[in-house]
Amino acid sequence: MVNFKEEIVKILSEKIENLTEDEIRNSIETPPNYEMGDFAFPVFSLAKVYRKNPAVIASEIAGSIESNLFEKVESQSAYINFFLNKKVLSEEVLSEVHDKEEDYGKVDIGKNRNVVVEYSSPNIAKPFHIGHIRTTIIGDSIKRIYDFLGYNTISINHLGDYGTQFGLLIVAIKKWGDLKVIEQDPIPELLKLYVKINAEMEDDPTLLDDSRSAFTALENGDEEAIKLWEWIVEVSLKEFNKVYDMFDIHFDSYAGESFYSDKMPAIVEKLEESGALKDSEGAKIVDLEKYGLPPSLIIKSDGSTIYITRDLAAAKYRHDTYKPYKNIYVVGSQQILHFQQLKGILKEMGYDWADEVVHVAFGMVALEEGTLSTRKGRVVYLEDVLNKAKEKVEEILTQREEEKGIKIENKEELAAQVGIGAVKFQELFNQRIKDYVFSWDKTLSFDGETGPYVQYVHARISSLLEKGNFSLDNKYDPSLLNSEEEINILRTLYRFTDVVVDAHEKYEPYFVTRYTVELAKQFNKYYNTTQVIVDDELLKNTRLMLCYAVKTVIKEGLNLIGVAAPEKM
Ligand code: ARG
Repeated sequence: MVNFKEEIVKILSEKIENLTEDEIRNSIETPPNYEMGDFAFPVFSLAKVYRKNPAVIASEIAGSIESNLFEKVESQSAYINFFLNKKVLSEEVLSEVHDKEEDYGKVDIGKNRNVVVEYSSPNIAKPFHIGHIRTTIIGDSIKRIYDFLGYNTISINHLGDYGTQFGLLIVAIKKWGDLKVIEQDPIPELLKLYVKINAEMEDDPTLLDDSRSAFTALENGDEEAIKLWEWIVEVSLKEFNKVYDMFDIHFDSYAGESFYSDKMPAIVEKLEESGALKDSEGAKIVDLEKYGLPPSLIIKSDGSTIYITRDLAAAKYRHDTYKPYKNIYVVGSQQILHFQQLKGILKEMGYDWADEVVHVAFGMVALEEGTLSTRKGRVVYLEDVLNKAKEKVEEILTQREEEKGIKIENKEELAAQVGIGAVKFQELFNQRIKDYVFSWDKTLSFDGETGPYVQYVHARISSLLEKGNFSLDNKYDPSLLNSEEEINILRTLYRFTDVVVDAHEKYEPYFVTRYTVELAKQFNKYYNTTQVIVDDELLKNTRLMLCYAVKTVIKEGLNLIGVAAPEKM
């Protein structure tokens, strides 16, 4: 496909000698509306060199440009505005969709680059709660976006399956636990035991000693302790997998914290060697003042390692194993300091690759009052949220069946696709760092900027294509698309790759989410103003080709945020 922006760079670099191609490329802007052109180039920076009024420079350069890729090139004060040749735009977009179909917009800028994306990472024996929803959904989308751009991604679930709390759990299970009961409903039961031992410990300090020795036993490979720990991991994972299945999210690696337990001595040794490790009241710390950060505790006074020690080992392991272009951690903003310290320590260790570590942080999610009654205690389980989303959509679909006297095929599957898709869509609708309030009404509405709305437009186009007997073999004529609605849709379709590239650079899936809404809205407007299925075969097929392009890109956009695109709704 013609790259209009690059063509502008080429044209301008011939006209302007004092600027490099990169400088030109970086100054090209997308005007706020199409009346000001598709692209604009400000000439302010040239005023000094040419010793001329910017408006004069802009008008002289604009007047000297001749290219059939642009319908017109105009100056407007200090800007040169480029208006795309609509026929070329239409030809380019339609032939690209025609030839590439579902691969439309794909590029391979990530070729031969590995990218590690770590996300979800729930804690074993603890609830997979609503807070984990964000890392899971954002992380999965980032992985999909990187895949689309040709990177080789490795998704990692850094399970919280290690630490002194397992000593507590082992003791609690042995004392009060009934394995059968736990197996029935593992997470709430394990949580109860955990809460209980923490409470009892206050009156009975021997419990703390028992727990410490249980953890030491675990670390030293004691068979019984290991067996119990493995069992805890297994029953917890079984629960987590229910959620992952509902989400249709899976990982290439489940190397959790315990995976690094035997890799920590080497890291500590290396830390010692680098001279970064300092004694502090029996504990070992790394001073990070030069990074403007508080010191980081690495080894406690009782000799045990902690969370960050395992993260150091994990970062090193990922570097050695995957040689990643980026090692991305999708973890909440509460851990910003943790990851700053992690990077600082890696730098202190002399690892020049420390900057491959990228912390993609996000804000908190709160539930609207009355959103969900909690099962046990105050924790909101993610599984319940997803089931409720599904149920609610099923209700809506049933209501629709009754109103319209129709029968919706595979209603349950559709309800899952729409309900869970809606939750993901809502989750990826805003800048990730913003806190947001989860609301059912907003999430599940069929109109407005929601997942169901975009899915509905997709399904609507499907039935339109069917009704019009669309086939990719039909003849079409790109020059027949020239209404304002049509051109605007083509412009949006043309931008697709750029949007995905931006989303990957800034780790912001919401660029893609918003884009799908915009495209869906533009299509609706088109559909309401234009009859697509007309008698004139060529015109009909051309318009259907445009519809097919919209459908393809909506589907791909939804796919990038992990949302299904049902054919019927
Ligand atoms: N398990 C942690 C939690 O639930 C998140 C782990 C984040 N990843 C990491 N490499 N530290 O808070």
